[in-house]
Amino acid sequence: MNSRDEIEDCLELMQKPIEYRYQKALHHQLMKAADHSMLHPDVLVLIYHMAKVSEGGILEIGSFLGGSTIAAGLGVRESGKQKKFISIELGGQLKDHRLATKNIFRDLERNLARAGLRDAVTLINGSSFEDKTIAAVREATARGEIGLFISDADSNVRRDIDSYGDRFADRCWVVIDDYVSATDKGGPTRVQVDELVATGRLRTIGFYGWGTWVGRWLLHVAMFFLPAQIAWNQWFMVPV
Ligand SMILES: C[S@@+](CC[C@H](N)C(=O)[O-])C[C@H]1O[C@@H](n2cnc3c(N)ncnc32)[C@H](O)[C@@H]1O
Repeated sequence: MNSRDEIEDCLELMQKPIEYRYQKALHHQLMKAADHSMLHPDVLVLIYHMAKVSEGGILEIGSFLGGSTIAAGLGVRESGKQKKFISIELGGQLKDHRLATKNIFRDLERNLARAGLRDAVTLINGSSFEDKTIAAVREATARGEIGLFISDADSNVRRDIDSYGDRFADRCWVVIDDYVSATDKGGPTRVQVDELVATGRLRTIGFYGWGTWVGRWLLHVAMFFLPAQIAWNQWFMVPV
């Protein structure tokens, strides 16, 4: 892809939130998802779009109450294709917040069911870096199968890319929240993303909402930089 194509990729994506805003029924559905999301509505629109147009499956880490999960699920439904969609959520509770809940995972399931999407997503109730979660995702997916990766969990996206990166397709869409953040997740996330961009493993397409980074995974470069950790997992620990 030359730099002109890259600019067109960015400009095309910038137009999407505007385009979809004029589709009233869809806009209404996405705003309902935004009611229980920590992400900006424009980011939910982009997730919807990427889930609709991407080839392959979707991997999400950090579904919380399902705002982003519903946006992606609606996109998959609109694509008319069967797409593997795995979403990992640790669960627990959240206090002193407009979206406070006593049971994140229970409310996530309930919101997905209300949106008619409970069967469209394989939910994993666990941490993204637990061995059993990694094994379950690797078992359910093949190399290069993921076309959209959404990371909105803690401040260690690099750890999750090291665990799942070989599942990403070349030019897989990547959405990483907290590139800019009022919380202490912002600093480490930004450093990690910048490093992955500098080494050519990620390519930036834009920054949206309250600080979400959006881009693509570049497999041809990533292959030369796969850390020993992945290689170890792939060949010795977890069946592929
Ligand atoms: C910022 S919220 C996600 C917001 C959600 N994407 C939305 O649209 O509102 C982060 C979520 O990630 C979960 N989480 C944090 N670390 C995690 C990990 N390592 N694995 C899985 N889930 C994690 C938290 O329980 C929390 O629900």
